[in-house]
Formats: sequence, C-alpha cells, structure tokens
Amino acid sequence: MPERTIIEPFRIKSVEPIRRTTRAERERLLEAAGHNLFLLESDHILIDLLTDSGTSAMSTEQWAAMMRGDESYAGSPSFTRFRDAVRGIFGFEHVIPTHQGRAAERILFSVMCKKGDFVPNNAHFDTTRANCEYTGAQAIDLPIPEARNPAQIHPFKGNMDVAALEELVTRVGAVHVPLVMLTVTNNSGGGQPVSMANVRAVKAVCSRHQIPLYIDACRFAENAYFIKMREPGYQHRTPKEIAQEMFALADGCTMSAKKDGLANIGGFLCTNDAQLAGQEKDLLILTEGFPTYGGLAGRDLEAIAVGLDEALEEDYLQYRIASVGYLGDHLIKAGVPILQPPGGHAIYLDARAFLPHIPVEQFPGVALANELYLEGGIRSVEIGTLMFGVHAKNELVRLAIPRRVYTQSHIDYVIEILLDVFARRADIRGLSIVSQAPFLRHFSARLKPV
Ligand code: F0G
Repeated sequence: MPERTIIEPFRIKSVEPIRRTTRAERERLLEAAGHNLFLLESDHILIDLLTDSGTSAMSTEQWAAMMRGDESYAGSPSFTRFRDAVRGIFGFEHVIPTHQGRAAERILFSVMCKKGDFVPNNAHFDTTRANCEYTGAQAIDLPIPEARNPAQIHPFKGNMDVAALEELVTRVGAVHVPLVMLTVTNNSGGGQPVSMANVRAVKAVCSRHQIPLYIDACRFAENAYFIKMREPGYQHRTPKEIAQEMFALADGCTMSAKKDGLANIGGFLCTNDAQLAGQEKDLLILTEGFPTYGGLAGRDLEAIAVGLDEALEEDYLQYRIASVGYLGDHLIKAGVPILQPPGGHAIYLDARAFLPHIPVEQFPGVALANELYLEGGIRSVEIGTLMFGVHAKNELVRLAIPRRVYTQSHIDYVIEILLDVFARRADIRGLSIVSQAPFLRHFSARLKPV
C-alpha cells in the first residue's frame, strides 16, 4: 500500500472567521500591548498558537452531551457521568472537579506541602511551580541530562532523572518530600513524553521512601500514544490501556481538562487517600464549589466526560501527533533550530540558536515571538527568561497547536512566515522590561525594544 496523507479525521460543521490585519496595524497594536502578546486582543490575531489549553474544537457528541448537563447544586447526574469517565481511565477512588488545572494544584499543594519541603518533578509547569512555592515548598526540576540540549534526539526526552531523584530524597530526607510529580507530556521541557519504564522507575524510588507519586496528567493521551509508537511492548496496546497502566502506578493526579479533556474549561484532582480527599474537598468548598461541581457547570462536566474518551481515540491521536510533527519536520528540513524531536502538542523554536546575537537578558524568545506576529499575525509564547527568570534552562518559543482547530493549509502558512523571519533573523532586536509583576510576570509585563 502506498503511504497516504494522514487527514484530519473530522469534517467541519461550524466555522469561525479569522481576519487579516496589515503590518502597520500590527506594529501599532504590538506597541500598545507593551510588546507582550498576552496583552493583544485575539481579534487581531490570524493564527493563534499561544496555547493548546481550552482552545480545542468540541465534537458533535460533546455539544450533544452539554444539552444533557444537569445544573443541580448537589448530586448532579452530570457529576456521576464525569466521575465514572475519569475513573474509567485514571482509576482513582476520589475524583474532585476543579475549574481548571491550577485550582487542582493549589488544593493539592495547600494540603500536602509546607515551608522546608521539596517537590521534585521532571519539569514543573509555571502555575505548578508557582502554586508549589506559594506554600513555601521548593519546586525542583529533575529532567534527564539529554533534555538540556534542545538539538538532542531522545524518544522519551520528558523522563525524570531517577538517580537525581534518589540523590535529592537521600540528601534532604524523605520526610521533607511530601510528593513526587511527573508531568506527562513534559510541557516546559518541550511537550516530550515520559516512558512507562521511567514512571515505573520513579515509582520504585517513591515506594522505597514511602512518598506518594502524583501525575500532572494534562496531556496524558498524547503521552500514551508516544509510548505506543516508541516503547517496546506497547505497539498492540490501545492508548486507553496504556493510560490505565500508567495511572495504576500513581497515587493521584492533577488534570487540566482544557488539554487532553478536549474541553474549553475544567480540571480535576484525584487521589486514593480518603483522608486527603476529605481535606481537599473542604478547601474546594471554600473557593471552588460543592464537590459535585467544583466551580464547573454541569454541562462542562458532560463535555469533559465525552472529551476524555475522544482524546484516546487512535485515529485522532495519529492525526494529532502527525500534524504537530509535520510542522516540526518542515522547519528542521529548512535548518530552523527547534527543540528535537517534535513534541506532542507544540513545536518549540530554539530562540537562542535562532537569534544568537541577542543576549538572554534581552529576551530572544520574546523578540522572536514578536517578529512572528509582525510578519504574519501569528501568536506564540516565550518559554524562557521572561517566564522563568533565573530558572530558565532554554530560550524557547512555543507554537502550540489547538486540538482539531487548524488545517494543514494554516500550518503551511505558519511555515512560510517562519522561513521569511528566519531569512532576515540578523535584523531582529532584543527587548528590555518596562514594568513587571512579582510572580508569573510573563502574563502582564510590558517591554520595549532596545
Ligand atoms: N500543568 C501543565 C503541564 C500545563 O501545561 C498547564 C497549563 C497546567 C498544569 C495548568 O492548567 O491552565 O488548566 O490551570 N498549561 C497551559 C499552557 C496554560 O498553555 O501550556 P490550567
């Protein structure tokens, strides 16, 4: 059989127009936004690759399920369907709905962490780090050494450095490590997957020291598909079976359903520990809502219940991983430096290699993201020194691909713009900060060209 094009496994029933702006308009808009793409209005963006979070197109089945949403304050059947869908994949006893992932993080860390504690992760996402450190604990990233080099190819570049974990636990003492986290796929590290073997090895260290293992499950379905494609022994397993095996190794998870839940809002926190679940629900009631809705509408719970299973469908995952790889492969072929290999939800440009003449204090990632907007109305996000300050390990620009939203011709346009910007990269200038917030400064900082 000849190899055929992998097509979008859906047709389009409802369309959202996107409109062009002129370069002169974009120059004016960018200046008014303090050269921070978070501060632009999305009407002024042609292709929005800021995030894959909450930006998915929902299916007919999800919209149909939303009509079934029961908005009862307590005991809604929508919660029962949501809980059963979560249990069917993740397997945890206690399922606590939250309005999004960071609410689950805040509750988890508030209950488990205190000053003097250490929380290891393969790499904390920015809200995960901020919520952890807000309790006084220290968030420690322990990626494998291969992850530090953007150009290095590794099938599971999201793995945790197991020897470094053992060393940390021994050095600070297990009593100061209230939990270990694994982020699948590893977003801050390039959307790179974690292997089942690595989860098992991390779990073995945790078990030896009696430390619970939590999974930041945002992109669990994409991670499961990478395991199926790359890890020996999993070729004939379904993504759902692979996900079930992974979560059976964990004691709980946090989830943003805005990613592999294929929903526009929502999340959850899971645990098998009844006592913790009780404390977590007390906090939930304080700020999120009653435990059968957790800050969500009944219809949101329905959309998530359907979306979690759709995200594990094999033809969807094949298209998803192939379409992100398509963007990455075209850039690699043209010599554009990207974090290799292509990730599951995004391509990460290596801004340090792209703009070697801009020092990190002048935010090469922000400079590159600004240029993609000026050239083609594309919005991306810096994941580097503006986002992480001194914790930044690389200067990356993420092109996150919303799920089921853009077609191949949109991506071809993105490739054209990137190649134009790459051709005149020597003319791009850095930026300096005009004003900033004390934490998570990348959301609101204002900058100016140097
Ligand atoms: N963990 C990871 C790995 C994430 O990527 C995110 C969100 C969260 C936790 C928090 O979830 O947004 O629902 O509160 N990532 C988005 C992104 C925002 O653009 O990567 P949330």
